Amino acid sequence: MSTRNFLSLLDFSPEELRLLVSRAIELKKLNRRRADPAPLKGRVLGMIFEKSSTRTRVSFETGMVQLGGHAVFLSPGDTQLGRGETVEDSARVISSMVDMIMIRTFAHSIVERFAASSSVPVINALTDRFHPCQLLADMQTYREHRGDIAGQSVAWVGDGNNMCQSYINAARQFDFELRIACPPGFEPDENIVAEGGNRIALVRKPADAVAGAALVVTDVFASMGQESEQQLRRQQFAGFQVNADLMSKAAPRAIYMHCLPAHRGEEISAELMDSPGSVIWDEAENRLHSQKALLEFLLPRGS
Ligand code: CP
Ligand code: NVA
Repeated sequence: MSTRNFLSLLDFSPEELRLLVSRAIELKKLNRRRADPAPLKGRVLGMIFEKSSTRTRVSFETGMVQLGGHAVFLSPGDTQLGRGETVEDSARVISSMVDMIMIRTFAHSIVERFAASSSVPVINALTDRFHPCQLLADMQTYREHRGDIAGQSVAWVGDGNNMCQSYINAARQFDFELRIACPPGFEPDENIVAEGGNRIALVRKPADAVAGAALVVTDVFASMGQESEQQLRRQQFAGFQVNADLMSKAAPRAIYMHCLPAHRGEEISAELMDSPGSVIWDEAENRLHSQKALLEFLLPRGS
């Protein structure tokens, strides 16, 4: 069987993604009963982090252990990647020793180059362009709370960043309408928008994006690597906070998500994080279950 990678949601078919979400829900139930299957006994996941992480590291590492395997944490400060060994040479060597590799880095081209030289499956654990693992958890969370997302209206409020661009891919693969409200100059990549076709609409006002939406999603104003822009962005994103007033314009049973970490009181009001309608904490936990489904899928028993 040829090696599969998960660099974006478009690497899997809509049917495969739906099956992954179903399996994630099943794995969560098994985990609650402490009945995790252990198909990855003796298997190792290499985890390369060039950016910080709480959820991604804990979920992948825990997930591997629960599935019977092991995870190795690699940071540029501790490996030769940080001292100039090429991405290609690193991929060739690391993939000769481990069974799967996940990478969190800056340029998306780095995970593409890594995957091209890797002999084992490579998972994108966030680049400046996409964060597909988060979308598996988000789609699982929507399904658990509200059922099928196909045909629903989803609002993105805030920066047209890696999460927003992943939502565009999700709209294509899970078949929902996505209205995006960003301040001028912070729109998602126009090619990604164009590929999303008529499911994607760019609007200027958050209220226009949220009107009647079943799901409202936001993320930080300044992503990792943009720390120096934090102050300026706070001003440029004025009026783009998801709060109770904005949520009152959404559909009556609307839920909202945030991939976390959040800046409470900036892109989302502090009280909203824990209000009815927030599925943020389930969303975070589901990183564990959905990635276990992903790991199991990429390394089927007997492969
Ligand atoms: N949502 C997410 O990826 O969180 P971390 O940056 O903590 O991994
Ligand atoms: N857009 C954020 C997501 C963090 C999980 C970032 O890239 O920092």
